[in-house]
Amino acid sequence: MGHDISALEKARAAYQPRLPKVLRQADIRTESGLPTEAASDGEQIRALFPNTYGQPIVTLVQGESDLRTDALRVGVVLSGGPAAGGHNVIAGLFDALRAANGDSRLFGFLRGPRGIIEGDHKELTSATVDAYRNTGGFDMIMSGRDKIEKPDDLARCRQNLEEMDLDGLVIVGGDDSNTNAAVLSEYLLSHAAKTCVVGVPKTVDGDMRSERIEITFGYDTACRVYSELIGNVCRDAISSVKYWHFIKLMGRSASHITLECAMQTHPNIALISEEIKASGATLEQIVDGMVDVIVKRAEAGRDYGVVIVPEGLPEFISDIKAMIDELSAILGEEEGYIQGLPDHSERVQHLSSRLTDHSARVYGSLPEDTQEVLLWRDSHGNVPLSQVETERLLIDLVSDKIRQINARGGKKITFRPLSHFFGYEGRCAAPSNFDADYAYSLGYTAAQLIRANLTGYTAGIQHVTWPPDEWIACGTPITMMLCMEMRKGKPAPVIGKALVDLAGASFRRFADKRESWALNDDYVFPGPVQYFGPPEVCDAPPLTLALQHARRVRKRA
Ligand code: FBP
Repeated sequence: MGHDISALEKARAAYQPRLPKVLRQADIRTESGLPTEAASDGEQIRALFPNTYGQPIVTLVQGESDLRTDALRVGVVLSGGPAAGGHNVIAGLFDALRAANGDSRLFGFLRGPRGIIEGDHKELTSATVDAYRNTGGFDMIMSGRDKIEKPDDLARCRQNLEEMDLDGLVIVGGDDSNTNAAVLSEYLLSHAAKTCVVGVPKTVDGDMRSERIEITFGYDTACRVYSELIGNVCRDAISSVKYWHFIKLMGRSASHITLECAMQTHPNIALISEEIKASGATLEQIVDGMVDVIVKRAEAGRDYGVVIVPEGLPEFISDIKAMIDELSAILGEEEGYIQGLPDHSERVQHLSSRLTDHSARVYGSLPEDTQEVLLWRDSHGNVPLSQVETERLLIDLVSDKIRQINARGGKKITFRPLSHFFGYEGRCAAPSNFDADYAYSLGYTAAQLIRANLTGYTAGIQHVTWPPDEWIACGTPITMMLCMEMRKGKPAPVIGKALVDLAGASFRRFADKRESWALNDDYVFPGPVQYFGPPEVCDAPPLTLALQHARRVRKRA
């Protein structure tokens, strides 16, 4: 990397990620299951993906190998937000390709999918890969959020992939990027191009999961970093005994991060968006619930506490969600016009005339910067919720209510709030042992899928709560995960985001405990991510995953 490295980085460079036993064998073959169907909207998905629809699930097993052994040329791209373990995916991919044939070559596309469109790439040599083993971040080749969908972009990708003579392309990303991998693989097949496209499931949000994809890499590390920080804040709360900390946690849509951090730290209040949506609660009802806890703690002499809220919350609150959907539909039709309006007040005026009365009132009640953020969409049609200061919005609304209570007389409630946002702090941390092993194994698996000439697949590792030795390596056809959703006002094929399961073991455990956590100081202090030491400190999988798969958790080596 050409710069000084820390003592920890030096020690971590020597860490050899653990691989499933099957991937350590020289003789690996693929075992195919039955044809598959899309998650829903099968006929529409089949029509959009005629060449890749219905492919079978594939498992890698030991046996006389049917995989390619010729020298392969493979490209890799990192897409979307960084997640701890990205460099290990590349290292696993590189090592697997070289183990099969020492002349295979790996190329990294720079700054995300745009690098493929523009043919911007560099060769990843062993010196480059070695310098980044077990490090956090995506800086080896950087990332970006561009989407490859316009006919011209697809054609340019094909041209670049053909010019580079690539046998395979690995797209490391979340639900949107894996959907993009499906679109590109279908396009390449329909043009008889030889490049196989394989996705790798990544995102700190942990919302690309299914029976076959148990978790994305990066989630464990991010949750551990946030939990360390939340634990530290909890300890400050019981030490200073004067602040209420409102902490927003990343997670664009689902509340998996918040639930995991709640289980790791036991804050006084943790909002789970999925529950709020199910109850149909309005913003006011949510605030009333928080005030109730604050008042009860004040009555017990505790003028302090810790609240954690998921970034995705606004989209799950009934009145705000309805307003955001209306905005998305309006932006789908006239985004250019709205962005071209000279200033904020003209935009608000125009939108107020286009929104329904109720949504116009909700939109009008938000602070100016929130109103502006709600008008942005990324290339996948997502609202950039990490920019919405939900934690401050809640503090303002709670403060108003506490003022009203105090104005009524009686014992005065002291409410000194502080706001925090833990998001970017966790995405690029050095991967936990779990993420280092898992991401490396995913990269290794992706290489085998390409060696098997499979395209339109996402690499997977199953039974991740077992010791790595026993993990199962597989490929899931991406069309199997697709359904149709409205994006930017139009129906589009997407991998549906997996939300917190309110009937699942993790949420139920949380719901059982939260009343006690609200009123008492039951905080837990997980401390920083540990890389060396006892397995229960260093190697454990995420708590919520262990709870969810409790029946299959075995003691990790
Ligand atoms: P990915 O799904 O691409 O991994 O990104 C996850 C995330 O960390 C979200 O939690 C967050 O909303 C978003 O990235 C923020 O990224 P950006 O700064 O690019 O909007």
